[in-house]
Parts: sequence; C-alpha cells; structure tokens
Amino acid sequence: MIITIDGPAGVGKGTIAKIISKSLGFKYLDSGAMYRALALFANLNGVSDNDSDRLKKILIDLHIQFIDDKEGERVLLNTDDVTEDIRTNEISTLASKFAANDIVRKILREMQRRMIKDKDFIAEGRDMGTYVFPDAEYKFYLDADLKIRAKRRANQLKEILGINMNEENVAKEISNRDNLDMTRESCPLHPAADAVIIDTSNMTIDEVVLKIKTVIDNA
Ligand code: C5P
Repeated sequence: MIITIDGPAGVGKGTIAKIISKSLGFKYLDSGAMYRALALFANLNGVSDNDSDRLKKILIDLHIQFIDDKEGERVLLNTDDVTEDIRTNEISTLASKFAANDIVRKILREMQRRMIKDKDFIAEGRDMGTYVFPDAEYKFYLDADLKIRAKRRANQLKEILGINMNEENVAKEISNRDNLDMTRESCPLHPAADAVIIDTSNMTIDEVVLKIKTVIDNA
C-alpha cells in the first residue's frame, strides 16, 4: 500500500511521515533527500541545472541509498554518507533548481517507483500523490502559514546542523523555493485532486498524526 504526503517546504512532512511509517510498520521514502543528493552530486561534478546533456551522462553514475542504523536513517550517495551534507541551505536552493529540470525528474521518478515496488510505503515530497504515485491508496497534502513553516525549518536546522538562522531569512529561502516548486513546468507542486488537505498551522505534530490515522482508519 502507498500513502503519499506532499506539501511545501518546512511544513513538517518528514517528521509526520516518519512517525506514521513507524506506527504502521511501513517503509519511508524521503524523495526530497534524493533531489538534494542529486544536486550535491551534480554540483561536485561541476554540472549546472540547465545542462541536460551533461546531466544525463553523469546521472548514470548516481546511486542513492537509504540505510537504517543506530543514529536513524542515513542517506548514501554512491558510497559516501551525505546525510548531513545535503541539509544545508545552499543544497536546499540547488535541489530546487535541479528539480525543475525534466530529465532529472524522469530519472528520480523511475528510481522512486523501483524503490517502492510491491512494498508498503509512506512516500513524502512534492509530487508523490500527483505525478509519481497517482494511484496511491491515501493522499495527504500538508500546508501551513509561511511564518510558522520558517520557525519549524529554523528549529530543524538548529537540531540537525547546529546552525542558528534568522527566521526572516529562512522565510525568504523557503518562499523562493516554494515559488520555484509551484511554478515550474515539470510536475509543479500542487495538491492532488483526491488528496486530503490539512492546514497544520495551529496543530501539534501529534494532532496531525492523529488526523491522518483517523482518515486511514475510517476509509
Ligand atoms: O523536501 P525537501 O525540502 O528536502 O526538498 C528539497 C527540494 O527538492 C524541494 O524544494 C523541491 O524543489 C525538490 N523536490 C521535488 N519533488 C519532490 C521532493 C523534493 O521537486 N518529490
């Protein structure tokens, strides 16, 4: 069974998806981490987001893996552990630029479908319910006010990277990214017609989890 959770930056999709996947015994697909790892890989190879010919060539050698260890889920880019490296603001912005390239999206879409094939998964990202898994059994779209999302993202940056960032700057970064993600031609971010939309602005994590579980239990 596939459950998709989509929505804009900083809305808390990852946190919620992890909790739900644990409680249902499902696997968790962090598709954003794949766009981040790809951006890091292309950047290290000196290839820009609009150079589709070179991108096609280097992406043949791109292998992304998620592994579970004591510290939680780790992201491997080929053999390197890039779990923390892909969480910087620079990579967030780059990921969004590469994500607008149709070749990049095709390659990652195929990888995502292969990873999930015949398994129970919570797939989280921007286009999971719309373009990658349009037949998913349950679809959710989380949203929240920009200020609240900036606060959540700033807290996350502090927790993961130990970086203190001004919330106004974080708000600018995520609103630029949302704008790019929502207006690109290839698979733009929008709720699927059959998604349950949840405004999490005034909800706790537990309340969002409960809401999602209630929808699934009552279906
Ligand atoms: O979710 P996260 O913030 O890690 O995603 C980073 C970027 O990757 C997003 O801003 C978006 O441009 C891109 N992305 C995407 N489609 C997905 C997941 C992420 O375009 N399914």
